[in-house]
Amino acid sequence: MDSKHAPLPSFEEHARRLAGTNLRALVNDASRGDRFRRRMGPILLDITRQKLDVAALDAVGQYIDGTGWKAARDAMFEGKHINTSEDRAVLHTALRGGASRHPAAPADVRKEVAEALDQMEKLVNAVHKGEGESVGLIGRVTDVVNIGIGGSDLGPRLAVHALEQFHVKGIKSHFLTNVDGQAAYDLMNSLDPAHTLVILVSKSFNTQETLLNGGVFRDWILKFNKGDTAKTAKHFIAVSSNVDAVNKWGAAQVLPMWDYVGGRFSLWSAVGASIAFAIGMNGFRDLLAGAAEADDHFRTTEWKDNLPVLLAAAELWNRNILGTTSRAVIPYVDYLADLPSYLQQLEMESLGKHVHPTTGKEVTGSTVPVVWGSIGTNAQHAYFQALHQGTDVVPLEFIGLVKPAHPLRENQDVLTSNLLAQAAALSLGKTFEEALAEAKTGTEEERRALAAQRTFKGNRPSTVFMLDSLTPHSLGALIALYEHKVFMLGHLWGINAFDQWGVELGKVIAKQIYPSLANDKDAGDIAQFDAATRGLIEAIRERR
Ligand code: F6P
Repeated sequence: MDSKHAPLPSFEEHARRLAGTNLRALVNDASRGDRFRRRMGPILLDITRQKLDVAALDAVGQYIDGTGWKAARDAMFEGKHINTSEDRAVLHTALRGGASRHPAAPADVRKEVAEALDQMEKLVNAVHKGEGESVGLIGRVTDVVNIGIGGSDLGPRLAVHALEQFHVKGIKSHFLTNVDGQAAYDLMNSLDPAHTLVILVSKSFNTQETLLNGGVFRDWILKFNKGDTAKTAKHFIAVSSNVDAVNKWGAAQVLPMWDYVGGRFSLWSAVGASIAFAIGMNGFRDLLAGAAEADDHFRTTEWKDNLPVLLAAAELWNRNILGTTSRAVIPYVDYLADLPSYLQQLEMESLGKHVHPTTGKEVTGSTVPVVWGSIGTNAQHAYFQALHQGTDVVPLEFIGLVKPAHPLRENQDVLTSNLLAQAAALSLGKTFEEALAEAKTGTEEERRALAAQRTFKGNRPSTVFMLDSLTPHSLGALIALYEHKVFMLGHLWGINAFDQWGVELGKVIAKQIYPSLANDKDAGDIAQFDAATRGLIEAIRERR
């Protein structure tokens, strides 16, 4: 069966049975762990608190198995042009193929990936030795600034922050992404231009924000170098697939990107150069090896044990059968604070689609939920009230660590007990009767009113990931598992997870509006816009 032409099943019988079952009953079945808890290397996935029983999971798994997912998966790994709207292969897995037991990408791709890694290694090692001049860069680097946006920022930012324990000494990493001039201005004020190396990351080399910020930094360093462009170029490495545009721009070194790697899947390429500068090339290769372990797992494991397939099954159930509209990702690991925003792009830019790629027809079911979240326990003291007692059910994803890098055992045990407690509380809840028994004073009416407010309906699903520890390897594996979950959902929902046409319209209109803000004297030039936009432009002009 080709899932892309068949509507999703409603799994009616299972949905009906489970609608009458509370998670409180389901999670108390100790045998669930046999099917709902699975390990891949350093990562334990626990979906025992999803609102599925074994029969329902089997029904979803068997459905998935009948959709041709293995052939679709292999087509991706082998470099078939599965991104049809852009006629491109999808080969981010080739970027870590060197560490895979089953490299499947075409030989020419593997060769150019290996060469690019070697090129990056030379730059990183030279800079780490304080010998940047030997590779055409400045000699001593104290600060590396990554300028990029979307996939050219979020992945490197996540990994650099997550792996702080592994940072080489003497080099600080910075990320400049938004076009809000305050960020560029403040960063320049905090840096010494003499020892600042900038990595300008843009696959297209056509992104307004990145080129503008790159230009601001180039002007700043050019001024420091008293107009010497050759000296200034030594402060810049560019990463792009648009070599012609980069050559015109004037960076001393250019690292490649390729059409077959989407921005949000690109941290494994030279887009991740800032990661390599932060943790060294050995660490970067460990990150790739972790991702390769997840790739091999995804390629060789049957659905029942396959973590990305199980994640996709749970999400499909929540989104398409239970009708939930968002999912909250809560890392109980400060170092993973950037994970929710990274996943927002990975999942929402990939799966925020509504038509089938070859027929152009509307898909029949809902696609991506809103992905959001922030670190625990902080989140508990902010919005968890709504997750426990609000009217919407929001599935959660908790991420914890077994062995942190610090020795503060009490902190870690408090942190993890909170993670486990939230998962338990959300699923078990507290019944009205339990709450009433706790309400000792007042009239019967008052006790009942209080008990109603202190009742937790529970029955709210969640997933737990436990990482043995946070290392380049485990981080690489975790991110790659999410990438493959995205692949699975794109396949099951019948959409192209690898293009992003939905971001284009706003970019075009922003370019049309810009001159009317830059040139506020000529009121006539705003006639082309809708009345709401005109009204706001006028209001801004009046207050300048
Ligand atoms: O606008 C969306 C997007 O194209 C993302 O897909 C991409 O990650 C980001 O912009 C940055 O693009 P680039 O690397 O080409 O500057």
